[in-house]
Amino acid sequence: MTDRLSPRFVQLAWFSLVVTTIVISTGALVRATESGAGCGESWPRCDGALIPVSTDAATVIEFTHRMATVASSIAVAWLVIWALRAVGRSHRVGRAALATAGFFAGEVVIGALLVVFGWVDQDSSVGRLIVVPLHLVNTFLLLGAITLVAWWAAGHRAIEWKGAARRPVAVAIGGMLLIGITGAWNALADTLFPPDSVLDAVRQEFGNSAELLVRLRVIHPIVAIAVGLSLVWFARRVRARLDDDARRFSRWIELIVFGQFVIGILNIALLTPVEVQLIHLAVADVLWVLVVLVAASALETSSRPELVEAPS
Ligand code: HEM
Repeated sequence: MTDRLSPRFVQLAWFSLVVTTIVISTGALVRATESGAGCGESWPRCDGALIPVSTDAATVIEFTHRMATVASSIAVAWLVIWALRAVGRSHRVGRAALATAGFFAGEVVIGALLVVFGWVDQDSSVGRLIVVPLHLVNTFLLLGAITLVAWWAAGHRAIEWKGAARRPVAVAIGGMLLIGITGAWNALADTLFPPDSVLDAVRQEFGNSAELLVRLRVIHPIVAIAVGLSLVWFARRVRARLDDDARRFSRWIELIVFGQFVIGILNIALLTPVEVQLIHLAVADVLWVLVVLVAASALETSSRPELVEAPS
């Protein structure tokens, strides 16, 4: 009897996290390169074949995104079923697995809403302004749930919402979601209203006829700097409560926040080239996963864990 699940289960959880992050990155690549029609009308075929022969960039990008989505769906489904069969839904690993399934379904529903309501292409309606950041929040929550499956399955203790760590954890989690929401507006604004220069961007933002989305673009850098600094405070504030792994992660948070500031500034200075957009998003995902791990460690109960049978 042990509180850990088998190492293979833990590996599957980390694998699911990596593949899901690849889905998010390739999805952003599809958006940024406008490759959504790369496979034509055919589904599940792409460009008329199961494996397209075309070397057209849009086809390759859309096909890669589809393949990553298939791999992620299989990995996540396998993870959830394995977790529920091994520990049931009342154990924290089972609960995190159920949350994973819920947020995965949320991704599908939000994707469908975007298409059904026509919140695609050049649309800048209020509906899209609400659903696009919701999509980002849901992807953060999905990554967070998979992270907790892996962390808890590796034998870490349950969390309790009490003690001095509560406030820093609430600030860090809430702050990251806020950065995600405002960043998603920025990414959408840059896709729909790409500026010709940094000066043009500033003129667009403060001009009398500016679209709501363009005005919202000002918010993200301000929010990101304020929240970034509070993430550094969070990492330092809870460090004393953390185990060795989480303590290392808390140091990475500090480094990554400042790295992300530099990437964000480059994003604006270089007029959001696709490569920098993708790096900025991937780094945000990594930062979020680290924040979840450090938060889970900071809120760990001090009592002995209950015993759970490991799967054979
Ligand atoms: C902790 C720091 C930061 C985090 C976690 C963060 C996170 C994000 C996220 C999640 C997005 C949405 C990406 C997407 O949906 O494709 C985004 C977009 C963006 N961020 Fe940040 N950000 C940070 C700091 C900054 C800073 C300091 C700046 C500028 C000074 C900045 C500029 C931008 C720009 C221009 C975009 C739009 C990029 C695009 O068109 O895809 N960010 N950010």
